[in-house]
Amino acid sequence: MSTETPRTLTEDGVEARLSELLGQERFTPPAPFAAQAEITDPELRARAAADPVAYWEEQARQLRWSQEWTTALNEDDAPFYRWFEGGRINVSDNCLDRHVEAGRGDRVAYHWHGEEGETRDVTYAELLDQTARFAGALRQLGVQQGDVVGIYLPMIPEVVVAMLACTRIGAVHNVVFGGFSAGSVAERMEVSGAKVLVTADGSRRKGKTTAVKPEVDRTMGQLDGLEKIVVVRHAGLDDTPMTDGRDVFFDEVVAAAEPVDPEPLDAEAPMFILYSSGSTAKPKGIQHTTGGYLTGVTTTLRQVFDLQDDDVYWCSADVGWITGHSYIVYGPLANGVTSVMYEGAPDYPHQGIWWELIAKRGVTKFYTAPTAIRAAMKWGVEHVAPHDLSSLKLLGSVGEPINPKAWLWYWHVVGGERCPVVDTWWQTETGAMMITTLPGVDDAKPGSAGTPLPGIDVQVLDAETGERVTEGEGLLAIPRPWPSMLRTLYQDPDRYVSTYWSRFGETTYFVGDSARIDADGYIWVIGRVDDVINVSGHRLSTAEVESAIVAHPHVAEAAVVAKADDLTGQAIVAYVTLNGDTEGSDRIEAEVNQHIADRIGKLARPKRIVWTSDLPKTRSGKIMRRLLRDIAEERDLGDVTTLADPSVVTTLQDRWGAGA
Ligand code: WT7
Repeated sequence: MSTETPRTLTEDGVEARLSELLGQERFTPPAPFAAQAEITDPELRARAAADPVAYWEEQARQLRWSQEWTTALNEDDAPFYRWFEGGRINVSDNCLDRHVEAGRGDRVAYHWHGEEGETRDVTYAELLDQTARFAGALRQLGVQQGDVVGIYLPMIPEVVVAMLACTRIGAVHNVVFGGFSAGSVAERMEVSGAKVLVTADGSRRKGKTTAVKPEVDRTMGQLDGLEKIVVVRHAGLDDTPMTDGRDVFFDEVVAAAEPVDPEPLDAEAPMFILYSSGSTAKPKGIQHTTGGYLTGVTTTLRQVFDLQDDDVYWCSADVGWITGHSYIVYGPLANGVTSVMYEGAPDYPHQGIWWELIAKRGVTKFYTAPTAIRAAMKWGVEHVAPHDLSSLKLLGSVGEPINPKAWLWYWHVVGGERCPVVDTWWQTETGAMMITTLPGVDDAKPGSAGTPLPGIDVQVLDAETGERVTEGEGLLAIPRPWPSMLRTLYQDPDRYVSTYWSRFGETTYFVGDSARIDADGYIWVIGRVDDVINVSGHRLSTAEVESAIVAHPHVAEAAVVAKADDLTGQAIVAYVTLNGDTEGSDRIEAEVNQHIADRIGKLARPKRIVWTSDLPKTRSGKIMRRLLRDIAEERDLGDVTTLADPSVVTTLQDRWGAGA
């Protein structure tokens, strides 16, 4: 490792440097980085654009197929596209067996770090052994190809084993983020018809252990289709309730099971569903399939993170989100890299833990979210300065637009001005990164994600006419299918078509983001155009939060909007009307928050609740959310004469001001 001594970083020094850099529009790839980069061909995009399907076939061939496809892209049934039709492949085979057979079994797949400082190294050979056995155990529990397996686990290696074991036998995993409540897990298990749930005795967060299994029993014990619950012993709780004939311990079934071989699966076999928030209170089951998804995530991680043999890679997301699926589990494993996996929070046991882990493990490539960078900025450079970050070669960002100041802080303080910063735009639906800069080739512009990746076409279309905008603002759209795209919404093909393939016709994917494209073709994402809020890079639906609030017996009506927030990007504001003459109080606020925590999860609790006797509505009774946003962001409201009762907004403005 490098012998560079920790840098002297001071808040004033950093501030001064950032103001110097704020005027700099472009950052060319640092020369030493560019000199060692794998991808240096500036013509790659043009070559791929000449024949995108052939380009993706070339990428797919880098994986191990047990049978080659007959049709690379079948568009007959658009927008139900099929990629690599006729091909057979297994994801766990590509992530594990392939590397072990090539003699790389001793390579560490994950350096796991627990919250209390524990460490555990898991090699590719160990991961293969565990996965093959757990796949055998799932079969013994009655899981067959196409069955849904729920996974509700903390950030521990077993979550990877559980996911890979599903792919080994063609079961469809449905992972739910550990931060969601057991109630929301129950809902997702029910609507997906999950047969088995893999969960843990408990989870740990910032020094506190919470029992998970009793909550799972309380909310899911009665679910019809759920036949078995597998419990990972993680939190050391010894009074975990287990129901005879239904519940088994993970370690026991793994030890007892025979390892099974990977099942060659159809390229279009469903691989997983991941629920994500949309415009209604009902989450969407975004469904991905096998061959195309693996091709997309493997290729993009290799190119965008410039993967090399000696990399130590760390993506700080949670496996419960698409970022974790694609870039903690499948992308890194398919590429055979060594990753760091961290169980805990970024500020536990102290606010410098991430930087300490980077220095300790010699992390070379780091992938995180703007909200985490802003939190680190707030905590101060004194938490970064003591740690030697000279192993870092490249930094990535994902989840929301990154403001130039946070970008520059990342570049200067974390990357020491040596590491390209890649701002990667994509979605749960796209499966893999879509817009970013190729780090050895393209200039970065802080605040812009960049241009579409090779083989990908993303355009900005005029919101009114649908015409392509070459410079200016509009709506993001994807005019051509790509391998890692969602295939449908689980059991709801109509909603798939109406959500994504109606606005611009049925062969152009409607993204749901607005953006500006500049004269160089760089895309500057502005934000969502639907009722989706992005809090710390986590997607939440206003309708879902509203329905959790109105579930409180004293609540008559609620309207939830997003407000810009320095730390979390957006924050939730709820305007709530109570029944009869109930007065808003701290007690009701606590109860409403508890309702939201139970039904969705703590992350969906509003930053502020404003009690009101009425909401601004049109004469036809539609709530005018735009006005509620304007009130929360303290903007001038303009013309409010179309309101049924214009005085409502003045009252709300006063309330808002009084509570600020
Ligand atoms: C939405 C997708 C992709 C994994 C994490 C979020 C926003 C995502 C960026 C970025 C600007 C971004 C978009 C997108 N978003 N990355 N680099 N710059 N905005 O996945 O929950 O499916 O949310 O996140 O609004 O539509 P998701």
